[in-house]
Amino acid sequence: MEIFNTVAALKSFVSEAHADGKTIGFVPTMGALHRGHISLIERAVAECDLCVASVFVNPTQFNDSRDLACYPRTPEADAAMLSAAGCHAVFMPTVEEVYPEPDTRTFDLGSVAEVMEGKHRPGHFNGVAQVVSKLFEMVEPHKAYFGEKDFQQIAVIRSMVRLLSLPVEIVACPIIREEDGLALSSRNARLSKEERTIAPAISRILKQSRELRPAHTPEMVIQWVTRELSALPHLRVEYFEIVDGHTLQSIRNWEDTDYAVGCITVFCGEVRLIDNIKYED
Ligand code: PAJ
Repeated sequence: MEIFNTVAALKSFVSEAHADGKTIGFVPTMGALHRGHISLIERAVAECDLCVASVFVNPTQFNDSRDLACYPRTPEADAAMLSAAGCHAVFMPTVEEVYPEPDTRTFDLGSVAEVMEGKHRPGHFNGVAQVVSKLFEMVEPHKAYFGEKDFQQIAVIRSMVRLLSLPVEIVACPIIREEDGLALSSRNARLSKEERTIAPAISRILKQSRELRPAHTPEMVIQWVTRELSALPHLRVEYFEIVDGHTLQSIRNWEDTDYAVGCITVFCGEVRLIDNIKYED
């Protein structure tokens, strides 16, 4: 596996791949890789001639400087995991390499970027759009792979791709979970032992809430989930919304959509965890 630290070296690899008529599958990450990230790599390896990953903790998407400072960094282990998964090249740049000058662009990402995470993390999605648009320009991928754990991020990336008319297909991949249901996340490592035993309640309660659907409105399900989780020690629900999975707007009735998704953010101690669940018919 090739490791590139500069845009110039990455671009020369990309040009050669394009000249050889190879398809490129791209997996952008912020490192501290786990099986969730690796599932995206495996999908890209299976579907494309070449898989390119990036490992870059993007400062412009952190609205909380402490969160940025605490973000785990494990570049050697990341490179080993990517290589073992069959990834062909990884881009691991410095901040100066990606942002030789401050990125002042503001993207009009529409209403999908304004709700939920958009409301609670001002500027976050604009920062994601800044870095992902730059990475797409550098890697020129045919397909780019994103995890449904960050359900709203996928909708925002799709909006950005339409806005900029980029020739890339966005592929959404399922959430990978621990045996006890906790969605894998680089942030899980920051949970204390006790918090780690409580955190699986998030996915458990979400799953149970599906059974309420036939006899309860979305609003009643929201109240039930919020009450159940808030009753547990260490957990504080920041928001739980049931939305149309395409527009991300809240629904009042199940009949308002053919694709209802419940999106949640919960603080477990100091650690902000996100998860979501599809309410199938
Ligand atoms: P990061 O949090 O490192 O996640 C990189 C990709 O891995 C995202 O598409 C995310 O949804 C996916 N992922 C994380 N945990 C997962 C899990 N348990 N199951 C499946 N997929 C999972 O998301 C980002 O980085 C950044 O915002 C980025 C897009 C790289 C821009 O900086």
